[in-house]
Amino acid sequence: MPLPVASSTLTRRPSSKTSPSSDRLLAISASPHSVLRPENTHPMASAPHADQVTPEPESGDTAAPAKRPRAPPIITEVEIRTEFAHHDGAVSRINNGTFGCCPASVLASRSRWQRLFLSQLDAFYFCSLQPGLARSRAAVALAVGAGVDPSEVSLVDNATTAAAIVMQHVAWSFAEGRFSRGDAVLMLHYTYSSVKKSIHAYAARAGATVVEVPLPFPVASPSAVAAEFRAALAVAKDGGRRAVRLAVIDHITSMPSVLIPVKELVAICREEGVDKVFVDAAHAIGQVPIDVRDIGADFYTSNLHKWFFCPSRGLPPHPQGRPHRLAAPPPRRVQRSAWIGVRDYSAQLVVPDAVDFMARFEGGIEGISRRNHDKVVEMGMMLAEAWGTFLGAPPEMCGSMAMIGLPGCLGIDSDEDAMRVRDMLRNDFKVEVPIFHNSRGVEGKEMDKDAKGDEVTGYVRISHQVYNVREEYEVLRDAVNKLVLDGFTCAKLRPSGKCGTADLLLLGLLPKPYASITLHEG
Ligand SMILES: Cc1ncc(COP(=O)(O)O)c(C=O)c1O
Repeated sequence: MPLPVASSTLTRRPSSKTSPSSDRLLAISASPHSVLRPENTHPMASAPHADQVTPEPESGDTAAPAKRPRAPPIITEVEIRTEFAHHDGAVSRINNGTFGCCPASVLASRSRWQRLFLSQLDAFYFCSLQPGLARSRAAVALAVGAGVDPSEVSLVDNATTAAAIVMQHVAWSFAEGRFSRGDAVLMLHYTYSSVKKSIHAYAARAGATVVEVPLPFPVASPSAVAAEFRAALAVAKDGGRRAVRLAVIDHITSMPSVLIPVKELVAICREEGVDKVFVDAAHAIGQVPIDVRDIGADFYTSNLHKWFFCPSRGLPPHPQGRPHRLAAPPPRRVQRSAWIGVRDYSAQLVVPDAVDFMARFEGGIEGISRRNHDKVVEMGMMLAEAWGTFLGAPPEMCGSMAMIGLPGCLGIDSDEDAMRVRDMLRNDFKVEVPIFHNSRGVEGKEMDKDAKGDEVTGYVRISHQVYNVREEYEVLRDAVNKLVLDGFTCAKLRPSGKCGTADLLLLGLLPKPYASITLHEG
């Protein structure tokens, strides 16, 4: 896919641009992807067959690309249906963002890898596995920007794992005295819950002061996000009395979904002397073009199973910058974060097949994401108009997901209400779509209202992927319109006279561990 031209102006670490074997770490969870070329696809061998897998070169990162003869024909509508025939056709599945999707051709390749493993386990581990992983890392390196060396890419299980690796690094820096008690870690208010938990479990516990950036939602513009970020960074720095050791920035927040001006925020961090920047881009690969060098963070992680057509199991962080503890000679570094012993590696081995799949679409992955973006905005506007509401972020802050306000009369007043409405849409209308409860208005501003003057407290997050059709969004539109016509409110779904989980905890009736159990959107 054509990527933005790399620029050195945003990073204070120019050495990383010239030395591919420097200390950057790109963590990619599970399903790697690759760069799409104008003709045909990526240069890697795909479709793993026992006799196709060649021994890995010494470094493990220089698998030689095999030239592919011809560009594949553009995929037809019928073929797309066949690739996703395993989806339940009765369900309007407009939630690609949470779990992604995996076409039949990639699943078939995965099962070939699994059979290869089972056919001769020793030979697989010692001869086939590493060359296969090297091809996947090379495919990912191509996908995340020009000049990225595969040795900088590590395949890990998921974004949560990548975040934990980075946070452990921070915790060790406190433990070994490089950071002082009270030094700050900055994160967005909408940082994903598992990542927040890692920040608290490792960094805060080791002595970090955690500062949140209170992002506005609905959001008007990228500059509104940058302004909040600057203000929170000033709080974190406490007039220069506190060092900010790490900033955690989402590339696309999960809930509410907003495309964050990540390059600009990284630049602000550099200007303001933040030590390291970790970009959690779980949703980014396949939704937006990526150039990790241009973004200039120290660590960058993305999930391949969401928008890159790989089965679950994730993509890793991108170390870019000065040497640090995670840095080691490339092969060993990659092994340290990627090797977790005997397990099913097939999800990580099919990245080249996912790339092949994407190459069957006009414009490859770039064409797919451009059309997804256009469609999701079109569907979002259609819904907003039908419901008398609005988009939660302007089109330029949407990737292939969009937030649309729900009519205020539905009375979504809590996360529990949002979950109940989501369940109801699944059970009664066969629509899979996440619901967001907006508990925070924009500071100093009234909550936005719908066309009837009711405060909009709930939003749907819709996704668009290659398998979606307009009718699925119309099912959602009509379901919500019916609820409004029927006079439905969330109060009707609330269990009357029963204690909620919070009440039970207050009464001490639930064991402590339940206190941390929450359902998280993907
Ligand atoms: C922004 C963000 N970060 C991290 C994660 C966690 O991803 P995983 O479940 O693959 O660990 C998600 C999941 O959706 C996410 O949206």
